[in-house]
Amino acid sequence: MRVKIVGSAAGGGFPQWNCNYRLSRAARAGVPGMRPRTQSSIAVSADGTGWVLFNASPDIRQQIAQAPELQPASDAPRRSTPIRAVVLTNADVDHVAGLLSLRERQPFAIYASAQVLATLEANSIFNVLDPAIVPRRLLAPTEEMTIRDAAGRETGVVIESFPVPGKVALYLEDKDHPDADFSSDAGDTVGIRIAGSGGAVFYIPGCARIDAALRTRLAGAACLLFDGTVYTDGEMIAAGVGHKTGARMGHIAMSGQAGSIAGLADVKIGRRIFIHINNTNPVLDENSAEHAAVKAAGWEVASDGMEMEF
Ligand code: MLT
Ligand code: MN
Repeated sequence: MRVKIVGSAAGGGFPQWNCNYRLSRAARAGVPGMRPRTQSSIAVSADGTGWVLFNASPDIRQQIAQAPELQPASDAPRRSTPIRAVVLTNADVDHVAGLLSLRERQPFAIYASAQVLATLEANSIFNVLDPAIVPRRLLAPTEEMTIRDAAGRETGVVIESFPVPGKVALYLEDKDHPDADFSSDAGDTVGIRIAGSGGAVFYIPGCARIDAALRTRLAGAACLLFDGTVYTDGEMIAAGVGHKTGARMGHIAMSGQAGSIAGLADVKIGRRIFIHINNTNPVLDENSAEHAAVKAAGWEVASDGMEMEF
């Protein structure tokens, strides 16, 4: 099984269009060790020909342009794509907006939880993907399933989804209930286990908390691609770019006693890689102390185009 990191940044990308924080400025200036990154997505192939995308980011056009394996093959029909299916982990803009760029009456399948399917259904703009051509299928929790293309042919990519602590998408938040649970495991955000001959790969780009159930689930994994949105919970406030903590956004911080590095330290995992990295996260600077600390703790920091085989 091949895994390709298509986009390693969180919503907004790196640099973000309107961000004037030092990291985005440095990325724009081309400072060494500050690699620009597109928004949150990975691609997985069992046969090296057909690909299953996990999340469709607003940067998908650029991402396909940078990945020959996601482009039509030279001997393929005049309209074609090697993208057989798109699996969604939540309804956040950075994970679903790219669907709109996949219009053009091109068959592929969409897989998502009941909540995310309901959100697509409720937002009529997604009807540019005619369900008769782009079927929408339920990703039932904790059920191993083979991802199939629009015509029902197996892709060879076998996954299981499971709820993780998180929250509904920003645009679905209820303004009348500002104290809602932003780390509920009601299924608004899911994690994915992808079966590989060399062991399981977990893809969890959003996660608010690491609990015993998640630790048990991850034990023995070949690889974990995990929510690396923020390094410290209050980082966006400290950077002067917003008023929300990581927790308020449904994202656990990397550092600290309650952070993901500490929370997963004693869980046996082959490779652990941070993805969905926000433009305020100092690990984006490869010469920073925080980047060094993450590496010293056994973690990698994903960048666009990284490839792995399992
Ligand atoms: C998130 O991961 O918290 C969201 O993508 C934020 C957003 O909607 O911009
Ligand atoms: Mn996001």
